[in-house]
Amino acid sequence: MLLSSLLLAFVPAGFAATADDWRGRSIYQIITDRYALPAGANPNTCDTSKRTWCGGTWNTIRENLDYIQNAGFTAIWISPVSQNYEGPTTAYGDAYHGYWIADASQLNARFGTADDLKELSAEVHRRGMYLMVDIVANNVMATSTTPDLSTFMFKEQSQYHPYCPIDWLNNTSVQNCWLGDSVVPLPDINTQDPGVQATYGTWIQNLVQEYSIDGLRIDAAKHVSADFWPGFCGKAGVFCMGEVFGDDIATASQYQDAMDSILNYPMYDALVQAFSIPGPRNVSAVTTVLQDIQQNMKDPTVMGNFLENQDVPRWHNISIDQQSLYNAMVFTFMSDGIPIMYYGQEQGLSGNADPYNRGPLWPSAYAQTTTYNMTKSLNQLRNYLVNSTDWAKSRTQVLNIESDGIAIMKGDVVTILTNIGSPPQNVSVVAYTPWENSFSSTEYASLVFSHPAPADTFYSIFTCKQYAVGSNGTLEVQYTLGGVPVVLVPNDIIKDAGFCQWASHIQADVPVNNGALAMAPRAVALVLSAVVGLSVLV
Ligand SMILES: *[C@@H]1O[C@H](CO)[C@@H](O)[C@H](O)[C@H]1NC(C)=O
Ligand SMILES: *[C@@H]1O[C@H](CO)[C@@H](O)[C@H](O)[C@H]1NC(C)=O
Ligand SMILES: *[C@@H]1O[C@H](CO)[C@@H](O)[C@H](O)[C@H]1NC(C)=O
Ligand SMILES: *[C@@H]1O[C@H](CO)[C@@H](O)[C@H](O)[C@H]1NC(C)=O
Ligand SMILES: *[C@@H]1O[C@H](CO)[C@@H](O)[C@H](O)[C@H]1NC(C)=O
Ligand SMILES: *[C@@H]1O[C@H](CO)[C@@H](O)[C@H](O)[C@H]1NC(C)=O
Ligand SMILES: *[C@@H]1O[C@H](CO)[C@@H](O)[C@H](O)[C@H]1NC(C)=O
Ligand SMILES: *[C@@H]1O[C@H](CO)[C@@H](O)[C@H](O)[C@H]1NC(C)=O
Repeated sequence: MLLSSLLLAFVPAGFAATADDWRGRSIYQIITDRYALPAGANPNTCDTSKRTWCGGTWNTIRENLDYIQNAGFTAIWISPVSQNYEGPTTAYGDAYHGYWIADASQLNARFGTADDLKELSAEVHRRGMYLMVDIVANNVMATSTTPDLSTFMFKEQSQYHPYCPIDWLNNTSVQNCWLGDSVVPLPDINTQDPGVQATYGTWIQNLVQEYSIDGLRIDAAKHVSADFWPGFCGKAGVFCMGEVFGDDIATASQYQDAMDSILNYPMYDALVQAFSIPGPRNVSAVTTVLQDIQQNMKDPTVMGNFLENQDVPRWHNISIDQQSLYNAMVFTFMSDGIPIMYYGQEQGLSGNADPYNRGPLWPSAYAQTTTYNMTKSLNQLRNYLVNSTDWAKSRTQVLNIESDGIAIMKGDVVTILTNIGSPPQNVSVVAYTPWENSFSSTEYASLVFSHPAPADTFYSIFTCKQYAVGSNGTLEVQYTLGGVPVVLVPNDIIKDAGFCQWASHIQADVPVNNGALAMAPRAVALVLSAVVGLSVLV
């Protein structure tokens, strides 16, 4: 009795979010320096090519959370908060991105004070959202291979692996040798050392508790031996999502076994193969990776799905066609996993590799672009499904693949995607769904079918166009108006999910203007036809 009350006294206040808690979330990824300026700052001075600070802080994130919350996101991921290198500008610029760790036990004063970070955390929580913080445990940053260790949290030579450049074909070397190069080497922490493990454990436990962090994004997780992570994440006591760059499924699954989640690089690569224009337009890449993931990964439903981040080119630089962005993006929200949107993706920011993929967001004026509005719809649907069903736990099924696209189903939502791009074509993609009474084929015996009664009508969440299930359970999308993504929800839940309140049973055949998903004129036309429809019924 006495013992348990003593133990309780040491249990930290705050909520330790698990993988189960995170599964239904959707994440907006922020580079703190680039998301928002303080009021009154000159908006025209941020030059991405200069690789230096542009002025964003934890306070300016806090002051601009409406934009993220209004888009339906239920979590933010912010760039590392630890103290960074502050010496002379290097050949690769300054540490504006936060990944050049100096003393991890200190906060980065560039981005605010401890109180500022606590206020950001409190405001995120007040809005019912989660805070994910990016952390770097693999390495620190230096400007030579013989740095002065006294400036780091770990001050002993034995707490670092000896310098060696990475041999990418040798896993031991990938884990123990140094990332970076001779200009900016990243001294590799000796995470096999029990003293290092103990210090890191205390450090991460304190960081998580002090700032009420709900989850960690772990930089360069693959560059640390996988068996380090269970202890570390156990001390953190919250959801961990590791960066495991590359599409090797064996490596990916080894790291998801060691922590809750990893970023879905294998699917990212497949989405580029399938949807980029110009590109191989290879939809099979998606089905192959989906199968690999479902067969090998511990839990595909908590992997982090993304199209952009600070290490890969903006989608705009991979694919020139706007519809390719929309279709690939819809996949990241409507298939297994936690969707992550990198700040600026919704504004069509361009930029190839680092540093050009890290531009400031403020020149966009935080406009409600078509991509922003689509994101809002996707989050709205996802949040509804997560809140009222087991959708997030269900597994994505591929209903059909064709040279022009793919049809998938997760729970009761059928998503039909194409890679034909914006120009209209007289082609279609068909989904063979388990609805209607014609699925004797064993192929369909395993489909998740949680819908209470067979649906015969679906609505597109973007246009409210109605799609009737044809013979053989078919749902068909024609692209005579351009290659738009189509997310179809059964008639009996479309309104509960907050869409198409006015659509009732009315068929809407909606023109799509150059592929853009503008809603307004359509809505007027539909309200009119709804009125006509009702009077006919009466
Ligand atoms: C792999 O890398 C480690 C660390 O550098 C090294 O000790 C080992 O000899 C390498 N193994 C092979 C087969 O090259
Ligand atoms: C590296 O590790 C992965 C994952 O365990 C394994 O599949 C691969 O064969 C290893 N590579 C080498 C060269 O040992
Ligand atoms: C398409 O992707 C599949 C699966 O990754 C691969 O086997 C196939 O060779 C690819 N086809 C082309 C034309 O690249
Ligand atoms: C890629 O981004 C850069 C800006 O970083 C731009 O100058 C270039 O034109 C882009 N290329 C493509 C193909 O979009
Ligand atoms: C996005 O939605 C907002 C609010 O409904 C609307 O004002 C805006 O015009 C939409 N943007 C586009 C590009 O359609
Ligand atoms: C989830 O359900 C609760 C309780 O019904 C409601 O208050 C909340 O707004 C819902 N959230 C979403 C995202 O639908
Ligand atoms: C579209 O294709 C179908 C079948 O391939 C054909 O019957 C129809 O005439 C075509 N329509 C147009 C407008 O080309
Ligand atoms: C009926 O659906 C199956 C998949 O269940 C598909 O393979 C077949 O081609 C379809 N038949 C017709 C006539 O559309």
